[in-house]
Amino acid sequence: MKKYYEAYDERYKKVHSEKGLPWAGEAHSPTIEKLLQKYGANKKSSILEIGCGEGQNAIYLLSKGYNVIASDVSPEAIKWCKEKALAKGINEEPFFVMDILSNKLTKKFDFIYSVAVLHMLVEDKDRQKFLKFIFEHLKLDGKAFIVVMGDGVITRKTDKTKAFELAERQFGNETIQVATTSCRMVTKDEFVKEIESANLKILNLGLDFTIAGFDVSMVAEVERNK
Ligand SMILES: C[S@@+](CC[C@H](N)C(=O)[O-])C[C@H]1O[C@@H](n2cnc3c(N)ncnc32)[C@H](O)[C@@H]1O
Repeated sequence: MKKYYEAYDERYKKVHSEKGLPWAGEAHSPTIEKLLQKYGANKKSSILEIGCGEGQNAIYLLSKGYNVIASDVSPEAIKWCKEKALAKGINEEPFFVMDILSNKLTKKFDFIYSVAVLHMLVEDKDRQKFLKFIFEHLKLDGKAFIVVMGDGVITRKTDKTKAFELAERQFGNETIQVATTSCRMVTKDEFVKEIESANLKILNLGLDFTIAGFDVSMVAEVERNK
């Protein structure tokens, strides 16, 4: 049986087959490259993206020569990423399907980033697994950037049993029916607490207004506790 956080696969399939367009648009988030530069990433640094979706960030970073691999639990998302990468003359091998809540990689990374994925996880235990995955896959001096929807004040928790139900959403000027998916927005204090519970240290926690599709997001820059 599919897990609630796999519902995005249905949303992607519907939009890709009916519209031939990406759900999230093609604009990458400039924040990720800025943070990589802030912490001294170079083209040899190993970088992992968790929940790359349609690949706008990883495709951009790969086009700039960064050493990125990018995962998503949605096979449709990864198929889309590979096709888009190939169409732009970019290697498609770095894109792979993986549920990070139930899998591990043998490698550790200099950098891990994830945009708009943790807020899809509704259950405390799933959120802790996500953060534990980051802890376990960061090198000792590695850094991770976790971007989540929300301003740190508003809270929201959807019913995970409804994640595959159809709901009306705006797509450009149209209203279309897509899988509801899931969402949990937490306060800033709760976000800090759950990050620290996973043995990660917060280096900076700020707000970002540039992530496409969200009014405002929290961005945590973290490393392993030494
Ligand atoms: C809101 S979308 C964001 C996608 C992309 N990062 C972006 O900014 O457009 C959330 C993504 O997280 C993926 N995801 C959810 N749970 C996951 C998991 N356990 N492992 C890997 N990817 C996951 C979904 O398939 C979806 O592509």
